[in-house]
Amino acid sequence: MSEERPLSAEEKREKLKQLLKQKAAQAEAAKSTVVASPSKGNVDTSRFADVNQFPEVQALAAQFQTLQSLQVENPYFRVNEVIVNNKTQIDGRELLSWSSYNYIGLSGDVRVSEAAKAAVDQYGTSVSASRIATGEKPLHGQLEKALAELIGTEDAITLVSGHATNVTVIGHLMRPGKDLIVYDDLSHNCIIEGAVLSGARRIAFPHENYEALDQILTDNRADYERVLVAIEGVYSMDGDIADVPKFIEIKKKHNALLLVDEAHSMGVIGPNGLGVRDYFNLNPNDVDLWMGTFSKSFASCGGYIAGRKALVDYLKYNTPGFVYSVGISPANAAAALASTRIMMSEPWRAQKCQANAASFLSKAKAKGLDTGPSKDTAVVPIITGNSAHALLLADALFKEGINVQPILYPAVAEEAARLRFFITSDHTEENILFTIDKTAHHLERIRKEYGNLSFPKVPMG
Ligand SMILES: Cc1ncc(COP(=O)(O)O)c(C=O)c1O
Repeated sequence: MSEERPLSAEEKREKLKQLLKQKAAQAEAAKSTVVASPSKGNVDTSRFADVNQFPEVQALAAQFQTLQSLQVENPYFRVNEVIVNNKTQIDGRELLSWSSYNYIGLSGDVRVSEAAKAAVDQYGTSVSASRIATGEKPLHGQLEKALAELIGTEDAITLVSGHATNVTVIGHLMRPGKDLIVYDDLSHNCIIEGAVLSGARRIAFPHENYEALDQILTDNRADYERVLVAIEGVYSMDGDIADVPKFIEIKKKHNALLLVDEAHSMGVIGPNGLGVRDYFNLNPNDVDLWMGTFSKSFASCGGYIAGRKALVDYLKYNTPGFVYSVGISPANAAAALASTRIMMSEPWRAQKCQANAASFLSKAKAKGLDTGPSKDTAVVPIITGNSAHALLLADALFKEGINVQPILYPAVAEEAARLRFFITSDHTEENILFTIDKTAHHLERIRKEYGNLSFPKVPMG
């Protein structure tokens, strides 16, 4: 047996060099997309060791200063001390709430809460492993079967987060150098993050413009193998519904795959509240990936993809965010399952939510408020067209006992700054009348009092 001699410092350095060389060769072989630094060794590194000097950190500080100069309270991270339905409690004070996705009142529904509690008693608080290993519980299969039934697909897969579902699934199915992703330019962040992660070519088409999509595919389709068109059922900033039948026509014409994100449509739109398929009376097989999230109407936490069995099986054995992540927790799976069943058996919830939203919309319009393209959904923006006005308006309403979130530049363009109202089945006509009245009154006052205020446009990143 040969004795192991400790390596000298020089030998260790040499060994490390070899290892790094090997890694670099591997990265090259894997066609790594590492971008060489354009600064060629001239970076003043000290500037990058202090987070306070990052431009995006300074931009945030500038926004806090704006809050101070307008003398409004920070509207973010307010602590809601109760189950939020049409009401909430903040700092011990009861307020009307227009800021929760509890669209059909299932978070707090006793049957959903009881199902979650029973699941904790039976299976614990975590499944403690990836499902492909030892994390699989009966609830997972039951939930996926119920979702497939709800949507009318062969199968479904559930993951621990709605956001992560789009990131990991789009990021994994689409490939660099071979594939193309074409998405609505108002797509949610997780669609874009997934597209970036995939490394596939990305092209955004103007919001809801299926003719532009058709043109993009006419010009580019033949250059790529897989093409994914990604849209949302209901867009969460504007509350408008995509013309999904048109998108199906175009995706079929160009042999593309279609993903429809139903985060804000499932449980809300359609005669029975069963989302886009219900609203347009679609053949479920015409959409390849029905994506959804449990954090809204399902009163839970997690995400899903429903579609063909072959797709679901493939994703279950391969998607990194599923294979290398824990399974959805017993309480969350049980809550989503109970909600799915209630959604199917109690369409009155969605119908009530839709009636409330229609009432809110017509009353807002009657007061001359700008509600953008919102129609038939539970999301109604009131566009102020000025971030400072949106902040001041949200603050004034908060003082009146109304909690609604402002959406400011740079989350939207300055002229699209708004308050965003989420309407639920629990709201009452009285809640709606009071809120519209106060909103119209304060917006008029703010516009007169403050004129056209400008909001700091600090470059990000
Ligand atoms: C359209 C859309 N997709 C996905 C998500 C992410 O879902 P979750 O918050 O459940 O992770 C959201 C969140 O609001 C969304 O609006």
